[in-house]
Amino acid sequence: MTTTHRVHDDLDALTADAAAWFLARIERAQREGRTAHVALTGGSVSDPFHREVVHGSRDVGVDWDRVHWWWGDERFVGADSADRNSLQAVTTLLTPLGVPDSHVHFVASSDEASDVDEAATRYADELASHAPDGFEVVLLGLGPDGHVASLFPGHASLGVDDRLAVGESDSPKPPPLRVSLTFPALNRSRAVAFLAAGDGKADAVRAALTPGPLVDCPARGVQGQEETVWFLDAAAASAIQL
Ligand code: 6PG
Repeated sequence: MTTTHRVHDDLDALTADAAAWFLARIERAQREGRTAHVALTGGSVSDPFHREVVHGSRDVGVDWDRVHWWWGDERFVGADSADRNSLQAVTTLLTPLGVPDSHVHFVASSDEASDVDEAATRYADELASHAPDGFEVVLLGLGPDGHVASLFPGHASLGVDDRLAVGESDSPKPPPLRVSLTFPALNRSRAVAFLAAGDGKADAVRAALTPGPLVDCPARGVQGQEETVWFLDAAAASAIQL
């Protein structure tokens, strides 16, 4: 397993590089005969990343009918809430790519499940059924506190290792109700890409790249089986020596 760090001048350059890397990974998966399962992220990097993937998709030979889409986490709000990571991704990525609805695996919204635990159980069951071999790529933003997906420092979800998804009812980042993939699910991926930009993430990047307890910095707990790539801008990389 390799870990690489790719530092860019700004968010645009970061997301352009991440998109090119992502598309190349999907092309390779298809050359090697795999259906690619991808876990997308929410947060501020997602829209610019999605735009770059759509832009770059014109230059590659990816068959989008052989890619399935998931989320590392989702907010447990109404299906049409602007807070839904999936709603944003449908608009900025999945519709522009012409992805078939059957290949998009949504976490149940608060309109469809009675609580976060039911939503988590349903999502985990769907993941186990459709992607028994895990992900090709997991994409993750990074919180200023070192959280990834909706796995937050000090929360019980960090210790959940017998399920693929877990409900979170007390997210320090609003909205409070969420569903998150667990560490076992996030780590069942050939590749993991962290995308972090801005000086507000510098301390979290340094913590994530420094050995220490998972409870203090959940980002320490995720790595790809083949590769882990950190896509950073100079500000987010300003507290580390590479
Ligand atoms: C979410 C995200 C979350 C996000 C980080 C970074 O649903 O909120 O999945 O894990 O990636 O909080 O978000 P920002 O880039 O907006 O700080």
